[in-house]
Amino acid sequence: MSGIFKASSDNIIKGAEIIKNGGLVSFPTETVYGLGASIFNPKAVAKIFEAKGRPSFNPLISHIAEIDEMREFVKVDERALFLGKKFWPGALTFVLPRKNENPLLDIVCAGLSTMTVRCPNHNVALELIKKAGVPIAAPSANRSQTISPTTADAVYESLGDRVDMILDGGQCEVGVESTILDLTTPKAVLLRAGGITKEQLENALGEEVLISDGNPDKPTSPGQMLKHYAPNKKFRINAIEPMEGELYIGFGSEYDFGEMNLSKNGDLREAASNLFSYMRIADKNEKYEKIAMAPIPNEGVGLAINDRIKRASR
Ligand code: TXA
Ligand code: MG
Repeated sequence: MSGIFKASSDNIIKGAEIIKNGGLVSFPTETVYGLGASIFNPKAVAKIFEAKGRPSFNPLISHIAEIDEMREFVKVDERALFLGKKFWPGALTFVLPRKNENPLLDIVCAGLSTMTVRCPNHNVALELIKKAGVPIAAPSANRSQTISPTTADAVYESLGDRVDMILDGGQCEVGVESTILDLTTPKAVLLRAGGITKEQLENALGEEVLISDGNPDKPTSPGQMLKHYAPNKKFRINAIEPMEGELYIGFGSEYDFGEMNLSKNGDLREAASNLFSYMRIADKNEKYEKIAMAPIPNEGVGLAINDRIKRASR
């Protein structure tokens, strides 16, 4: 199944079933159309990166239907509660510390110790999240490096049949992405300007909101500020076999040496969904001092895997 469907109640229920079964559904929000999957299904989340052709894993926003739902996976402080009550549902996204290390969420968080949440102000989005019964991870529903879509047709033009279903809820009202506010620091930092303005936030908080400025000593913009997950152990990539003292993480049947394999049948999506969790497990394994990883084909979601492991290797 794929294509554009009117966002009727029946079709939203069908979309929710697709999400529950690990598929991808594009849905309207008040800002832009999102490309959604269950946050608890790493393989489905890997499909998002593949469909977008994203060359690296960027953490994804988890969309929720009720403010209280965020307590399950992030540490909620006073500011988040206050701003959430004031501006949600709405075009405001919070970056907050992750509450636990549920490995299923590793790929949504791109291996970071923070998580981003937003409650969108759109009935179709809210219904879809409620009917699916899980928060929905969603970047904008466009191929990487193209502009965000604000109509169902634009989603179809960009992603075509890579999406199982596009729910057509008309044109997005806001038309620019949500404001991203980092609440992991004592002073709130604006990481991306968007639907809710800096002034609105400052008035609500009664204090200054900092702007990320790309300076490494100060908080920076989204892509740059990400402290990527890297194992503590020495980590060798493109390893065709394990050497003395190395825990080997294999891929496919050619590079399969027992202990761990990202995907025995060489499925890149499965590998992507296991990547961060396996790196953590390998890092904690006391039997080995070092980690080595098999070569990963540089195609599809393999580009994102290679981008990430290159940064983590040493
Ligand atoms: O309006 C929106 O926010 C839309 C709709 C669908 O909700 N979503 C959207 O998602 O724009 P996306 O993935 O295209 O942009 C999210 C941005 C990315 O630049 C990402 O790097 C940043 O948010 N981001 C996500 N999690 C982050 C984190 N933990 N720390 C810093 N930046 C983060
Ligand atoms: Mg985007």
